[in-house]
Amino acid sequence: SNSKLLIKGGTVVNAHHQQIADVYVENGIILAVNPNIRVGDEVTVIDATGKYVMPGGIDPHTHLEFEFMDTTTVDDFFSGQAAALAGGTTMHIDFVIPLKGSLTAGFEAYEKKAKKSCMDYGFHMAITKWDETVSREMEIMVKEKGINSFKFFMAYKGALMINDELLLEGLKKCKSLGALAMVHAENGDAVYEGQKKMIELGITGPEGHALSRPAVMEGEATARAIRLADFVNTPLYVVHVMSIDAMEEIAKARKSGQRVIGEPVASGLALDESWLWHPDFEIAAKYVMSPPIRKQGHDKALQAALSRGVLQLVGTDHCAFNSTQKAFGIDDFRKIPNGVNGIEERMHLVWDIMVESGQISVTDYVRLTSTECARIFNIYPRKGAIFPGSDADIIILNPNSSFEITAKSHHSRLDTNVYEGRRGKGKIEVTIAGGRIVWENNELKIAPGTGRYIQMPPYSYLFDGIDKKDAFYLNSLQAPVKRAKSST
Ligand code: URP
Ligand code: ZN
Ligand code: ZN
Ligand code: ZN
Repeated sequence: SNSKLLIKGGTVVNAHHQQIADVYVENGIILAVNPNIRVGDEVTVIDATGKYVMPGGIDPHTHLEFEFMDTTTVDDFFSGQAAALAGGTTMHIDFVIPLKGSLTAGFEAYEKKAKKSCMDYGFHMAITKWDETVSREMEIMVKEKGINSFKFFMAYKGALMINDELLLEGLKKCKSLGALAMVHAENGDAVYEGQKKMIELGITGPEGHALSRPAVMEGEATARAIRLADFVNTPLYVVHVMSIDAMEEIAKARKSGQRVIGEPVASGLALDESWLWHPDFEIAAKYVMSPPIRKQGHDKALQAALSRGVLQLVGTDHCAFNSTQKAFGIDDFRKIPNGVNGIEERMHLVWDIMVESGQISVTDYVRLTSTECARIFNIYPRKGAIFPGSDADIIILNPNSSFEITAKSHHSRLDTNVYEGRRGKGKIEVTIAGGRIVWENNELKIAPGTGRYIQMPPYSYLFDGIDKKDAFYLNSLQAPVKRAKSST
């Protein structure tokens, strides 16, 4: 049975410390982390000598069974999570989209979708309109449903996009609830203009996607969201940071002491825009996501920002559309469903690009693939650590083995992979989720219904010390200036 496990002799890595130790697990919980733990014969022993024993990855940004752009992603909560587990990710946070304007109905729909889960998951919620009902429902989501983050789309005009007035309302509400505001930062009005212009010029292919929504319009929206969050004095999380322009705005704000979190995604760190110019539509269309994958140079700059701490954690934005779905946009890039894969590849890519290359340490790797996500979404140290009492979500990585990515053997339902053919050093050989060995010898052992919904409480460390003040700029005006009544 898998209910008692001993992982022997590996290098146990947490975000700030590593040591050679054994890890003892019982009924899904880590009970001890010590050198030379002795156990009876009933315990399953895994030899991890020469390997790293680390907290399972937490992907802060996924879209499973997502209805978007007139279709639905091919990966649902079972296939997407199977892929995740095969790649060393043991928890993800998915975005609930309101249903017909109702947050409650949206939540219930996602609860149903997630019933087939084989690993733990949490939810963010998207806010796409504003009225008293939305405001009240946000409160219910935080106080009763375990959601502590809300995403505002500054792009996708005519669909999910919100304006600055709504964003301000949302930021104020988030602040009052201790919930984290997240933004998709692109100037949606400018993008809409850019798209029309490309079509007018006869640029209907995937390259039109990149040309119509340049990095400068990502930088603009990132700066605007940062200023508005500063005005309201609430923390901000910028999802899928794809450009130097956006990253530099985050760097500047953080330097001034503002609480801004920046999340690059695997595609932004590992790929560049040239794919969108590929003469074969089917290949080029795979790479269409928003904000777009940028020109060569942005990838390296985002890696450097991650290594310097300007950006804090890595997501994927896993949003899987197959080649038939991508072909909806064969005559018009605006109809290509936006999204790329990554839930299975993130842990290997970050190891290869960041650790193997010498840009970060192994402890940093744990921090930006797992621990920092757990801290930001307030579930640390239950998740994101190998401590006594933590959930037994554990991976074993062999630094001397290698990985290869191909659609022929990946676990997503996609017929393609944006990382096709990519190889690198470092292979996740074992994944343990909720105390069960779910990935070993290149085989998955999973069952639907074994994953749990993880409630995320409000008021993470990002709110420490800022909850009492009102809007930062408004705070300096404490009372009206007293003026004498004019006599004539
Ligand atoms: O292209 C993308 N990113 N698709 C998923 C939706 C989003 O904006 O995160
Ligand atoms: Zn220590
Ligand atoms: Zn987005
Ligand atoms: Zn996304």
